Amino acid sequence: MKWLHEHALLRHPEVHRIAIALYDARHELLKTYVNSSDVQHPMSLYQKPLAASSSLTELATLRSTRVISDLASLPEPHAEHTRWLLEHGYRSSFTVPLFQSGVLFGFVFFDSRAPGAFDGALSLDLQIYVQLCRMSVLNVINLSHAVEGIVKVARGLAHLRDIETGRHLDRMSSYSRLIARGVSGHFGFGDEFIEHVYLFAPLHDIGKVGIADSILLKPGKLTDEEREIMKGHVDLGVQLVDEVMQDAGLGSTEYVSVMRNVVRCHHEFMDGSGYPRGLSGDAVPVEGRIVMIADIFDALTTERPYKKPWSNEDALAELHRMCDAGKLDPRCVAALEDSGDEVRAIQQKFGLNA
Ligand SMILES: [Fe+2]
Ligand SMILES: [Fe+2]
Repeated sequence: MKWLHEHALLRHPEVHRIAIALYDARHELLKTYVNSSDVQHPMSLYQKPLAASSSLTELATLRSTRVISDLASLPEPHAEHTRWLLEHGYRSSFTVPLFQSGVLFGFVFFDSRAPGAFDGALSLDLQIYVQLCRMSVLNVINLSHAVEGIVKVARGLAHLRDIETGRHLDRMSSYSRLIARGVSGHFGFGDEFIEHVYLFAPLHDIGKVGIADSILLKPGKLTDEEREIMKGHVDLGVQLVDEVMQDAGLGSTEYVSVMRNVVRCHHEFMDGSGYPRGLSGDAVPVEGRIVMIADIFDALTTERPYKKPWSNEDALAELHRMCDAGKLDPRCVAALEDSGDEVRAIQQKFGLNA
């Protein structure tokens, strides 16, 4: 994004800020994603329902762009986003909704400190940057959809019905995002990282598609030997991710490392007692710690054939016990605990059936 902005600045020095917000259709939320600007603390880690902004909803419905010549002349009270822009000295803006196959997936915002900057031909000249933004975001979105799609097909073909249900994946990926947001200040994560954790969390168990039905679907307890084979789902998953990424020509991109770490480390406890590598402490990537906690929390709070669902309080108490034993990252557990309202909203939205 910085590169793209620098490039745009060469020809259009009046474009002082470029930002992309993503639209999450599942939660009907608009969220900050990436930005490049000349202010010290850019707007980030911010989300709100798209419906809360009537002007953006209109742009999405009409599929049109919007130029605001002077933000200061908009009728009061100003929307939060407008207020932020004005407080940071921006005066004019150009907004473009982003679509793929007719479906909204975000907005790109160009802002200038000069009033009327986008009134002339500039908005047309910026189309090339709109397309570049669009393509770079779609790359990430399509990649994760492609991998999820492959997993779904593999699951369906093999009738591996109880690998994990869609609802478990919806809940645990949403919990993962809450945790990633909560610890973002401590670890210095931006919106992009948080989004990638959310997008890739559902892939944690993809390696189970390679485990034989006789073990995966076995109703009773597994033997020691079977348990070892089951543990192989982690390395199988890493292999699958690597092959898919390599085939897609995306083997060395930054988000592949988050995807890989989610799959590779979702059973690694911080005290070294996890598998398959027995990593400990900082060797367990934060995305692995986050997904592990989200996965355990969902397993505890939902009903399984062998157990009743635990209350959120009991599940959190258990997570704290695991922190005390050195297995989990206490900052990540605290982030989940601090988001009680959001946790309940996720459970309401996606139900609590396993
Ligand atoms: Fe797993
Ligand atoms: Fe899971």
